[in-house]
Amino acid sequence: MILVTGGAGFIGANFVLDWLEQAGESVINLDKLTYAGNPDNLASLKDDTRHIFVHGDIGDTDLVEKLLGEHRPRAVVNFAAESHVDRSIHGPEDFIQTNVVGTFHLLQAVRDYCSGLAHPERSAFRFLHVSTDEVYGSLGAKDAAFRETNRYEPNSPYSASKAASDHLVRAYHHTYGLPVLTTNCSNNYGPFHFPEKLIPLMIVNALAGKPLPVYGDGRQIRDWLYVKDHCSAIRTVLAKGRVGEVYNIGGWNEKANIDIVHTVCALLDELSPRSDGKPYREQINFVADRPGHDRRYAIDAGKIEHELGWKPAETFETGIRKTVRWYLENRDWVSNVQSGAYRQWMEKNYVGLAG
Ligand code: NAD
Ligand code: DAU
Repeated sequence: MILVTGGAGFIGANFVLDWLEQAGESVINLDKLTYAGNPDNLASLKDDTRHIFVHGDIGDTDLVEKLLGEHRPRAVVNFAAESHVDRSIHGPEDFIQTNVVGTFHLLQAVRDYCSGLAHPERSAFRFLHVSTDEVYGSLGAKDAAFRETNRYEPNSPYSASKAASDHLVRAYHHTYGLPVLTTNCSNNYGPFHFPEKLIPLMIVNALAGKPLPVYGDGRQIRDWLYVKDHCSAIRTVLAKGRVGEVYNIGGWNEKANIDIVHTVCALLDELSPRSDGKPYREQINFVADRPGHDRRYAIDAGKIEHELGWKPAETFETGIRKTVRWYLENRDWVSNVQSGAYRQWMEKNYVGLAG
């Protein structure tokens, strides 16, 4: 079996569901259930004995050691993190605690466990750390896309905390021989995406008749990947990646934020038109920019493609249509995640924005 951390969040839950479908191997899922962790994401696994959910913190060494000792996983896949850039600007401390200190404690426990394994289990063991393209900083309009050899230049408390965790993972390989793999992925979108992030926020606000807040001039560029493609890339790296290596993952889909918002609005006009017949784009509202906002991310996914033979299955057009449909068909999921804590966050981040 494998141990997954953060498997009740957006990508982690998609990964657990995809893993059980594709690989069929049992999963222990360790998740702290922060505001972003949602057991509803895994509701379809209620009667599936291959999925063992454990409520806990990656920073709880005793708990992690106990889980490793009892279940003897052949791999750990670490998704657990604080993941939202805007929240890291308002309150960086949780990001340092989980992404840096938590990852450190997790590495310590895994290192102890791995060093106690006999061959051949020891040589087959892997620790896969899920990271982000944001560690490479911001690109100019004409710069080449991020490669694995790019310098680390993180600009937000979130990306700095992820960069620190990547460095710890690297150090545990070089110093202690821990068999690690690191993946740095671009922006994901798809089912179970928490509606604080751009795409789900735009869908949810549009349907609720609320303003669609676009930061600054809306010309910032992100490189979008459908979440199931990220899951298949992680499965590929876990199976075939070279120990100690870093793999960039991306969809070759650079888009400006305002173009994303227009695409979402046009799909909603087609699939769920406004009752007054007007287009959803009328709800777009340009608001103050994010402090330190990175202008452009782009991933060069050549290494994972040439070395491991991975390619995304979805284009942006197919993936975004599936995503909008999923939100239209899962309105209960949306209303369940819009708790009191979520409403407080919206009031704090979008001060003075009516709706
Ligand atoms: P998310 O915020 O949706 O989910 C994070 C999950 O981790 C939640 O279930 C939460 O409860 C859990 N968690 C948080 N702190 C924990 C702790 N101390 N111990 C145990 N569990 C804890 O995040 P996501 O978007 O699914 O991202 C998952 C990972 O992928 C993160 O490491 C993130 O940096 C990385 N990543 C995300 C994207 C993206 O576009 N969302 C892109 C590249 C990389
Ligand atoms: O690049 C990978 C990263 O992508 C991950 O590591 C992060 O965990 C993930 O949250 C995401 O970070 P971003 O900051 O790029 O995602 P977000 O959805 O918050 O914002 C996407 C872009 O949209 C960004 O340029 C900011 C802009 N934006 C966002 C929100 C929430 C808006 O214009 N308005 C908004 O209301």
